[in-house]
Order: sequence, then C-alpha cells, then structure tokens
Amino acid sequence: DPSAALRAGLLGLSRNDKVRRVVQNAPVSRDVVRRYVAGEGTSDAVEATTGLHGQGLLGTLDFLGEDCTDLEGARHTRDAYLDVLRALSDAGLTERGGVEVSVKLSAIGQALPHDGHKIAVDHAREICAAAAAAGTTVTIDMEDHTTTDDTLEGVRELRADFPWVGAVLQAYLRRTEADCRDLATAGSRIRLCKGAYDEPGSVAYLDKAHVDLSYVRCLKVLMHGDGYPMVASHDPRLIQIAGSLADRCLRASDSFEYQMLYGIRPDEQQRLSDAGHQMRIYVPYGDQWYGYLVRRMAERPANAMFFARSLISR
Ligand code: FDA
Repeated sequence: DPSAALRAGLLGLSRNDKVRRVVQNAPVSRDVVRRYVAGEGTSDAVEATTGLHGQGLLGTLDFLGEDCTDLEGARHTRDAYLDVLRALSDAGLTERGGVEVSVKLSAIGQALPHDGHKIAVDHAREICAAAAAAGTTVTIDMEDHTTTDDTLEGVRELRADFPWVGAVLQAYLRRTEADCRDLATAGSRIRLCKGAYDEPGSVAYLDKAHVDLSYVRCLKVLMHGDGYPMVASHDPRLIQIAGSLADRCLRASDSFEYQMLYGIRPDEQQRLSDAGHQMRIYVPYGDQWYGYLVRRMAERPANAMFFARSLISR
C-alpha cells in the first residue's frame, strides 16, 4: 500500500535529526508553517487564541518541543508554559478554562536518563499550579506506546493535587478501550484521538478501519461513563457518531467537547461551535515545529506534496 509506505517514511523522517536541521533551516514559506503553527513566541500564541476566542472557539496551547534530552531544555519548556499562562491570564483568556495548555512529558524531562519521570512530573506540577492560578486546566499529551504507562502514571500523580488534569488516549492502541474504562470516572477529562505515531501491530491496530472501530468502542465507554469526553478528531463520521452517542446518553452540551488541530477543517470548527457545541482548537507554537508538522503531513499526503513543492519552489 503506497500511502501506508509514505506515511511510515514520513513518520521516520519526523524523528530524523539531520533532516530536521535541513528542513528547519530551509527558507520554508512562512505561509505553509503558519497554516498549522501559530508562530514562535508567547505573543504569537496569545494573538492566535485571542482570534479563536473572538470566534467563540476554545483553545489549548502546545509549546512545541519533544524528546528533550537535557535538563536545560526541559526547564526552558516549563518556563515557556509558565510565561504563556501568565500572558493568557493577563489577556483574560483563561477564565472558565477558555484557553488551557497541552503538555508533552517528554518535552519537560521524561526522557532524561536519571529521574526522568520525577523531573517531568515536578515540572508538570509547576505548570498545573500556574494553570490553577489562572483559572484553567492542563492536558497531558500522549506519545509513542513505550511511554503510555509512564505518562498515565504521571497523570495519576498530578490528579492527586489537580483532579482536572486531562489525559489523552489513542484509539489505535489495543489497550485503549480498557484504559477508557479505567479512566471514565467522575470529573475525569479524557481526550480521545486516533494516535499519530508509527506503532507495531503487536500493540496497535494497523488498519484504518480497525482504528475507527476502536475509536467508536472507546467513545461509547467515555460517553456512557461519568467523565468528561473530549472528542479529538477531524473525521466527519466519528464526529457524527460522537454527537449521536452524546444525545443518546442525554449529555448536555457542556458535558463534553469537540477538539481539532489549528488550521485543519476551520469551517467545520466554526460550524460545530455555531451549532452550540464546545469546540476547542489545539494550537501549537514555538520554533520546534518540525516533528509536529511532519506528523500532520503523514496523515494527509496531499499536504506533504504541498509542503515539498513550497520547499522546492524557493
Ligand atoms: P484522519 O487523519 O484519519 O482523518 C479522517 C478524516 O478527517 C479524513 O478522511 C478527512 O475526511 C478529514 N480530514 C482530516 N484532515 C483533514 C484536512 N486537513 N482537511 C480536510 N479534511 C480532513 N495524537 C497523539 O498520538 N497524541 C496526542 O496527544 C494527540 N493530541 C491531539 C489533540 C487534538 C486536539 C487532536 C485533534 C489530535 C491529537 N492527536 C494526538 C493527533 C491524532 O492522533 C490524529 O493523528 C489526528 O487528529 C488525525 O486523525 P483524525 O481523527 O483527524 O482522522
């Protein structure tokens, strides 16, 4: 299957340091990056979320950076989150969780050789305290399957002090339906996505149709459960099924939300919001946009061609 091969190739490239350096330093058209990434600094992040707020959309900010292997880098990412939470609060955007933040544990120390878990959770705790002071929440992103247990353990530790910390579950993992059952407890914020990493068949469904079926099974568990489901997908079929399940479970519109990525299906984002649903946009910003952007390309090869052409035509 050529598209599966392209996807696997791109996911491989998303972790290739040499290619990252070449592409990040290439005179990439700002427009291409800007379509999916809000900019590089705190002020860009605030500006983008102010725009979304004006359109009635909620936000979650992701300071780009992952697989950080030095303590200095982990601290730098923590500081970026503390800074953006202050700026968002000053701009009045964090009230009632209007704009929150999404954090990758690997970006704040999880992969450090000594005490990585503890360092990451301590950094996350500082970010959670700043979010609490600003009146908003934090969701912990999920990365490749080798980190799932460690990340869920981190979420559990953080929830002891901050019960509103959100977790992300990936429908492509075979374990996820069971994780949904464990986590669909009162007040538990769960973001359900398909999953964006290149995983082996031993732990993940490889076939798109099987991933979608798993997504529906997980949605059923979450919608029938006592938690707060966050339906993170651009897939029209899954969005429709989520809506029907919410109706069937008599869920009020403030008891779950839809989520999509910045720049992907903006018309649909607005449509769902205008129809009275809570719609949250995941907004990445920062100069480490390479891994994020290449994962988006892998999802939609048409975008990869668009990106490649803009590199070549410069
Ligand atoms: P998929 O990519 O299969 O697309 C399904 C359909 O959606 C397409 O057939 C098309 O109809 C439509 N569509 C998709 N892209 C489109 C486009 N550009 N234009 C028009 N139509 C389009 N992953 C992860 O592993 N860990 C994480 O922590 C997160 N976090 C996260 C947060 C949020 C808020 C979102 C929305 C996503 C994530 N993800 C993630 C990424 C996620 O796992 C997944 O890779 C992407 O959302 C793409 O999957 P879809 O569900 O959108 O379906």
